[in-house]
Amino acid sequence: MNVLVTGAAGYIGCHACIALIDAGHGIVALDNYSNSSPLSLQRVMQITGCDFPIVEASVNDRDVLDELFSNHAIDAVMHFAGFKAVGESCLEPLTYYRNNVTGSVTLLEAMKAAGIKDFIFSSSATVYGDPASTPITENFPLQATNPYGRSKLMIEEILQDLESADNIAENPFWRVAILRYFNPVGAHSSGLVGEDPKGIPNNLLPYITQVAVGKLAKLSVFGGDYPTPDGTGVRDYLHVMDLAEGHVRALEALTRPDAPYGCQTWNLGTGNGVSVLEMIRAFESVAQCRIPYEIVARRPGDVAECWSDASKAERELGWKARRSLNEMMADSWRWQRNNPDGYPDLES
Ligand SMILES: NC(=O)c1ccc[n+]([C@@H]2O[C@H](COP(=O)([O-])OP(=O)(O)OC[C@H]3O[C@@H](n4cnc5c(N)ncnc54)[C@H](O)[C@@H]3O)[C@@H](O)[C@H]2O)c1
Repeated sequence: MNVLVTGAAGYIGCHACIALIDAGHGIVALDNYSNSSPLSLQRVMQITGCDFPIVEASVNDRDVLDELFSNHAIDAVMHFAGFKAVGESCLEPLTYYRNNVTGSVTLLEAMKAAGIKDFIFSSSATVYGDPASTPITENFPLQATNPYGRSKLMIEEILQDLESADNIAENPFWRVAILRYFNPVGAHSSGLVGEDPKGIPNNLLPYITQVAVGKLAKLSVFGGDYPTPDGTGVRDYLHVMDLAEGHVRALEALTRPDAPYGCQTWNLGTGNGVSVLEMIRAFESVAQCRIPYEIVARRPGDVAECWSDASKAERELGWKARRSLNEMMADSWRWQRNNPDGYPDLES
């Protein structure tokens, strides 16, 4: 397969590029570097020993997409491009809807015009909002609680509408995989690519590794009084390379000759909940250092527990997260230690 990867230079996108190339697929990478460095794609080439075309552009640029689809024989699209910061989305909702929702619509229009049917979409467990119970299966009610989550939910609904339109027309076109990620962490084992947040990290593990490397003084743990075994929030952390390999499995399932048309949805998680304090202890034991932390007030919008039932992906895609918590910690730490300031600026 030849796959267009949008948002290819980003954290998950560049790991997906590696997994695709490792599985023998070709890629064309597209990114506007609004939240990433071109160096990540150079490092993907270094890791895989494989050269591939890179297009610097926005998914909102229809002319570029049309030209890309006419210049390259693309079989399928993996769509990672988008903004992802919940807090920022509350302050800048229009920016989020334009980039995430309009960008996806533009991309889908260009795909349809080019006759490309297979679409793999980065959704998020955030579409489950505050779940009534755990583990969360794909048929739980959807209830996004912020503009970022709503942008993901809107795109999911647009994709369902495409399936409905295909059914009305009795002329099926689209084959869509909606992948709802839980909490990706870790990095490629080379230590060459990893998560490179701009400013203060929003996510727990980059925060921990930045404390460990001395960039931040201590970790703030938001809430110690949740109804969880140790009072801190519980999440389903999965290794980013497992997540990337889940995309390859979804691609292979979508493009099988007997694959059904329409939208299919899969949770990608480990099926295990891990608390913030357990994450700190696991990191300390792997990195052999202490992480100073302070328990502070809960963060508005955070839920007590969120972890997946990922058995549908195992059953239908033959995919299961296989890397351990220790590997997640060791790989994150290797990336951060080797790149304390993330990817270097290209000018410097
Ligand atoms: N990281 C997570 O915890 C997480 C969880 C669930 C879902 N997701 C989703 O997965 C996808 C990838 O996330 P990530 O963590 O790799 O984020 P990221 O910010 O590292 O990567 C996104 C990439 O998309 C690019 N981009 C943004 N807007 C673009 C546009 N209009 N045109 C072209 N490129 C554009 C950015 O420059 C960046 O390289 C996102 O859609 C995100 O919402 C992420």
